[in-house]
Amino acid sequence: MKKSLTLGLALFALIWISGTVIVPMHIPDFLPPEDCLELPETLFNYADIQLPPHLTTPALQNADNTPADNPITDEGATLGRVLFYDPKLSVSNTQSCASCHKQEFAFTDNRQFSRGFQGGFTRRNSTSLSMARFYANQHFFWDERAIDLEAQTLMPIQDPLEMGMTLEDLVIKLTATEYYPPLFAAAFGTEEITTDRMAKAMAQFIRSMVSYQSEFDAGLAMVPAGTPPLAPFPNFTAQENLGKAVFFDPARGNCGVCHGTTAFVLPAPRNNGLDAVYGDNGVGEITGITSDNGFFKVPSLRNVEITGPFMHDGRFENLEDVIEHYNSGVQNHPNLSPVLRVAGPNSPPRQLNLTNEEKSGLVAFLKTLTDFEFISDERWSDPFCDPATTGLDDLLAANAFTVSPNPAKESIHLQIKGGHDAKHHVKLIDAAGKLVFNTLFQGADYWLDIQSLPSGVYFLQLETGDSRISKKVVKH
Ligand code: HEC
Ligand code: HEC
Repeated sequence: MKKSLTLGLALFALIWISGTVIVPMHIPDFLPPEDCLELPETLFNYADIQLPPHLTTPALQNADNTPADNPITDEGATLGRVLFYDPKLSVSNTQSCASCHKQEFAFTDNRQFSRGFQGGFTRRNSTSLSMARFYANQHFFWDERAIDLEAQTLMPIQDPLEMGMTLEDLVIKLTATEYYPPLFAAAFGTEEITTDRMAKAMAQFIRSMVSYQSEFDAGLAMVPAGTPPLAPFPNFTAQENLGKAVFFDPARGNCGVCHGTTAFVLPAPRNNGLDAVYGDNGVGEITGITSDNGFFKVPSLRNVEITGPFMHDGRFENLEDVIEHYNSGVQNHPNLSPVLRVAGPNSPPRQLNLTNEEKSGLVAFLKTLTDFEFISDERWSDPFCDPATTGLDDLLAANAFTVSPNPAKESIHLQIKGGHDAKHHVKLIDAAGKLVFNTLFQGADYWLDIQSLPSGVYFLQLETGDSRISKKVVKH
């Protein structure tokens, strides 16, 4: 019974991912072929990423949770990248960390709840992983149950719903996988594969995921250090500057008091009054202490435009709903943060009474935290060949066409190998799955004008005869 469910899912996943209905002769193992791992000849730089001064202040340095025995190395983070994207980490060989932490959504997914390897739903909303390094108290998950990032990385692997694997079996599986022993040797000196080494490598990769190239970062770099947070940025629109002022002004939004520092986090959980009585008590469930009920991690707001739905249970679809919560919806839970009350402890919840202009300003400001470099940087991308091609004639398909430049602002050039006489459908699909462009042409070169499209992630799909291959493209 269980077996046929898994097989059914594997078959479904194969059809879904390849996008074409192909009926395999036997149920394949659904593994990326081993020669499908593409690592750069010169390792990417993870160890020495040059962060702007506002991310190297004493406050941020103190918040850095990199342990002395696990500094980021290029070799370690490279191994971490392979592990992070490898479906072999799940018992079914179908689910990697990236199944629920996708780069195009700043390492969260766009679902209220994520789906585990057998299709079951997780209990909470997947968290974004950027800025994990700057979380001073080191505790991970919404309820902070993981004592540090190294410990956290092994938990989803063993979770019966998420990946369903035992660590003993995983060590055996990885030891038998051609590409791992050399990667472990490069990272740790010997080929030995241990769970401690796996955890260290994945933690290095996640700590390297620092988002520092948003419009907000550009603005901060334009003003002298020490400029008050309410002062406008020259690169912002009036609306974005209004939103920034509301966000940081203690008399208006006062958001920065919790979503603080340039990492936009607070290293301690809080109750932000989502409910008068919580069904999920968060930190309180872990500590058993009533005064911890309804306490959840204060998540970093970097890239928040693309990390929805929002809150631990993904209850809010969009940022407007989140703002309305703080504006008029905060509930009087006994543990509600005093900051969200009118006048400190025991007083009623605060109503912000924001004007519509201020509300849309806040949303516009939050959108300046989106970092298009971060979500398209190859360093954090999938090193296995395009999953859209897995199950087809893999390598051939993976090289069938190129797109450049990517990311792009104005137009992208498609070059189709050996495609001179064939007719091709070119489709552009946005991150929400909506078809935004569709054409049929003949030849090997096509220039697609994307000037008028909103910034974001798209999937360019090329259909030639029976084959259908898609590549991710980013519009700046
Ligand atoms: C089935 C989907 C799924 C898979 C697979 C998965 N995660 Fe997660 N991840 C989640 C969800 C959901 C949460 C939030 C859960 C919670 O807080 O209770 C989360 C939370 C996290 C966090 C906490 C971040 C923070 O700021 O507290 C980290 C780190 C993380 N995952 C890393 C990983 C790694 C590494 C892997 C692979 C070994 C992985 N995840 C696999 C769904 C998934
Ligand atoms: C008292 C501290 C506090 C203040 C002040 C505060 N927040 Fe939050 N914020 C939180 C906590 C805690 C959560 C997560 C709550 C949960 O999921 O249960 C959160 C979640 C969010 C989220 C969802 C993020 C995600 O990834 O799901 C957004 C967006 C957000 N806050 C924006 C704001 C804005 C805008 C303001 C100002 C109007 C603000 N916050 C003020 C504590 C605070």
